[in-house]
Amino acid sequence: MIELSDLRKVYPGPAGDVVALDGIDLVVERGAVHGVVGRSGAGKSTLIRCLTGLERPTSGRVVVDGTDISALPEQRLRAARRRMGMVFQHVNLLDSRTVAANVAFPLEVAGTPRAERSGRVRELLELVGLGDKAGAYPAQLSGGQRQRVGIARALATEPAVLLCDEPTSALDSATTRQTLGLIRDLRDRLGITVVIITHEMAVVREICDSVTLLEHGRVVQDGSLAEVVTDHGSRLARELIPVPDLPLGPSRALVEVTYATDEVSTHDALAAVAALGRDVEVVAGTIETLAGLRVGRLQLEVPAAHVDDVIARLTADRLHAAPTVAGDPTDRTDPADPRGATGEVAA
Ligand SMILES: Nc1ncnc2c1ncn2[C@@H]1O[C@H](COP(=O)(O)OP(=O)(O)OP(=O)(O)O)[C@@H](O)[C@H]1O
Ligand SMILES: [Mg+2]
Repeated sequence: MIELSDLRKVYPGPAGDVVALDGIDLVVERGAVHGVVGRSGAGKSTLIRCLTGLERPTSGRVVVDGTDISALPEQRLRAARRRMGMVFQHVNLLDSRTVAANVAFPLEVAGTPRAERSGRVRELLELVGLGDKAGAYPAQLSGGQRQRVGIARALATEPAVLLCDEPTSALDSATTRQTLGLIRDLRDRLGITVVIITHEMAVVREICDSVTLLEHGRVVQDGSLAEVVTDHGSRLARELIPVPDLPLGPSRALVEVTYATDEVSTHDALAAVAALGRDVEVVAGTIETLAGLRVGRLQLEVPAAHVDDVIARLTADRLHAAPTVAGDPTDRTDPADPRGATGEVAA
């Protein structure tokens, strides 16, 4: 449905070239909700602009809904873009037009006859739960309602894919949940493929089926949510189930134990921990359901000198155990990477 192969985007700049995308391979299945995460400057927005054809790739292929976007001349690109709905952090609605007229706008551009337009607009507003706001003006709406108008407008031309760049970043948490619920519902009802760019793991947890972690324009990790969550100790697993901030006694260290409850029961996991003796203390624990999968995670405080021994014994009990790494894994710069935090390459 969406397929990127060896996608590169280089921006020439006065201080040298900026490699924004450095050989991206990515497949998003039809009807999936796919998240793209990564720290600021990782290349997320560039990736979405390449998908929409707003940005020409330096090299590589971008195939959306069977069409090779990267090879299209401008005129055909405009037609292809009609098959893609776009939603941004800040919805730019036309203030002088009513909600209905805003949603009708892309239909006017596409040359849809007036009679057909009004029925379609009514349908779209019902779909996003704004049936009663057709005659309102953008200034009379809340941020969440404006975003829903933006989504209705994006769906007007019946796109096969919905591309969202930070769609909920300007919304509070309750409105975020509502908006994400709407996007998921639309996917279920319309079978549309959704790509969501976000820096919030909560968004991924809430609606994504699959996820890609970008760093310096490269894919660091990707897969279905179930895959990345059970890839114990991986960056996305740690981010999706964050480590609590725990105080530590002298000469003590933290060991993290993770398990999928369909592989090891919590009962067996706790029995394995208890067998380690009184020197090993459970200081935190959670069981989270992500992508329909229950994942248990325990933080153990152990004598610093026994870390290796504890990990070996837990591993023998089929648990995944590793020293706890605190902090935000997407926020760490790889000291071995000469390009530094911004992903910019010196001339
Ligand atoms: N038009 C441009 N000209 C030159 N460099 C650009 C341009 N657009 C983006 N870049 C650079 O490309 C890299 C990736 O930018 P991009 O906007 O894709 O990041 P992002 O992941 O969306 O970041 P954020 O989370 O801050 O939105 C950055 O180093 C950025 O400075
Ligand atoms: Mg961006």
